[in-house]
Amino acid sequence: MQYRALAAKYDTVTPRIEALRDEAHRLLRLSVGDTVIDAGCGTGKSLQFLSATVGASGRVVAIEPCREMIEIARERVRLAKLDNVTLIEGDVCALREQFALATVNAVLLMFTHDLLQSRASIATLLALAKPGARFALAGGKLFSGPLSLLNPWVEWRQKPYCTTFENYDAPWRKLFATDALAHTQVHPRYMGIAYIAHGERAP
Ligand SMILES: C[S@@+](CC[C@H](N)C(=O)[O-])C[C@H]1O[C@@H](n2cnc3c(N)ncnc32)[C@H](O)[C@@H]1O
Repeated sequence: MQYRALAAKYDTVTPRIEALRDEAHRLLRLSVGDTVIDAGCGTGKSLQFLSATVGASGRVVAIEPCREMIEIARERVRLAKLDNVTLIEGDVCALREQFALATVNAVLLMFTHDLLQSRASIATLLALAKPGARFALAGGKLFSGPLSLLNPWVEWRQKPYCTTFENYDAPWRKLFATDALAHTQVHPRYMGIAYIAHGERAP
């Protein structure tokens, strides 16, 4: 799996996505006591923020199938003593067996293009989310318009960070097509080579 090779260098090669991460974090509108899922948490770069924001009475559930990635997340959680974080090694679909339906307040999907192309993963996250739960997404995408001439370069550049380019013109397409999310919005970033998207679980 390509993420095994990426894991050790992931934190040092991705500083440019931190502004998007901050924006996605804000869109989760977390409160103390909330339960939040960090789907495809990778090395756990969001965990400190999520843990501090939901507090001791809240819960962060971080799931990641790549062992090399989650080992780094595990060490991060251990060093920072993030006691309200539960790390699960596995595909997001595994959450269905472990958590009650409609109990989650927010879902973070930070640079998780593969996961967003899986209907089973999407169905799982929607099933776990409470009505009104916030979904915040950030990631890379193809240029549109005249800049789309540069898209072969975009795919080359983004290749380490996803295993498919299906729907890379609109990575949120499958999730937003379900009608299970209300108030959806998409905002291009970095001249359209990245995006922020968000919505709320419909009742
Ligand atoms: C580019 S990394 C992003 C890591 C992290 N979200 C971040 O904020 O930096 C994408 C991660 O999604 C994970 N992933 C891919 N498909 C998944 C799935 N079905 N369920 C859970 N995680 C998945 C990969 O293993 C990889 O570590």
